[in-house]
Amino acid sequence: MIQKLLMKFNFAHPSTVWLALTVFLSACGPSNNSTSGAIPIGIAVAQTSNVALLGQEQVAGVKIAETYFNAKGGVNGTPIRLVFQDTAGDEAGAINAFQNLLTKGKVVGIVGPTLSQQAFGADPIADRAKVPVLAPSNTAKGIPQIGDFVARVSAPVAVVAPNSVRAALKINPQIKRVAVFYAQNDAFSKSETEIFQQTVKDQKLELVTVQKFQTTDNDFQTQATAGINAKPDLMIISGLSADGGNLVRQLRELGYKGLIIGGNGLNTSNIFSVCKALCNGILIAQAYSPEHPGAINQEFRSAYQAQYKKEPPQFSAQAFTAVQVYVEALRTIDAQTKVAQKALPDLRVALNQTLLKGQYDTPIGAISFTPEGEIVQKDFYVAQIKMDADGVNGKFTFLK
Ligand code: ALA
Repeated sequence: MIQKLLMKFNFAHPSTVWLALTVFLSACGPSNNSTSGAIPIGIAVAQTSNVALLGQEQVAGVKIAETYFNAKGGVNGTPIRLVFQDTAGDEAGAINAFQNLLTKGKVVGIVGPTLSQQAFGADPIADRAKVPVLAPSNTAKGIPQIGDFVARVSAPVAVVAPNSVRAALKINPQIKRVAVFYAQNDAFSKSETEIFQQTVKDQKLELVTVQKFQTTDNDFQTQATAGINAKPDLMIISGLSADGGNLVRQLRELGYKGLIIGGNGLNTSNIFSVCKALCNGILIAQAYSPEHPGAINQEFRSAYQAQYKKEPPQFSAQAFTAVQVYVEALRTIDAQTKVAQKALPDLRVALNQTLLKGQYDTPIGAISFTPEGEIVQKDFYVAQIKMDADGVNGKFTFLK
């Protein structure tokens, strides 16, 4: 077809031919990689909207992975190339991004989306098309069960969330009364609060109130007042970054002095600009520590620090890990039959099968998958936010 196109326009000069080829190929889609021969991996995360508070960290993580693995020869000499599609913050954005990557981007697999709420909408599309999806941050119950082609590198709420409650009890063994808040319009927040509420019961604590809000809310006066009136000595919030940060700020402004646990949706330094000095002290469970031993984490950490002048956060480490899983599974496939010789539908199926069988030494530790696509991971941590007096800068301090 390309030849016919070129003949039709009778291009003679090589540079004209190259230009025509490039124009033609870019018309094929957002990033058809035929020009470079690089292997396209789709990245569908939130680059805009409130959810970009999380998505930005994922973009940072995958970009470091692209540079890192290509410097190490990519897939046995063939580079990978990331194809970005912004999902923004809702299901429609994620579905649109997935469709573009599947049809126009011709990707071998997708890393994304940012939210579980988006995954329940978009993942079935990739699953039906037999395109692997690696969730870098979807922690709600039920994500790997969406379909055979869906796996995740983000450990689920049931495994991660209870760690922060245990840490709170270690800091303050007097805790008896717990208030819980959650975003009722978000699948992950609903899933996480179930685990938090169960953990409260398992720890023989008293659940004194459960308050609901929306991820789109800014004003939490009603919920914050009701929460404080229930006289808790621990508050636990399952929401996303902007809403969660605002709720923390309003709880503190109304005078709550006890410990606050934030869930996985608050796990970003991007909330510092939302709750400022009042973010101080929030406890958040972590599926990654910058201190994790091992060469690959050291290299990832150095690359991240060199570029961003701070420690890498969990969302970046998980996103890096997702790209790593694709690269290593592609290397395994390529060692048997060159990836370039495989038809795309066959490669996608082989990639899904191969990645589920692998074992990976990653920045988040040694991981593998269950046959269903659930991550098997060993090491979890809890960090506490320490804000500088200026209320602008802060850091996550890992608890021993
Ligand atoms: N962990 C959050 C979710 O699953 C970001 O939606």
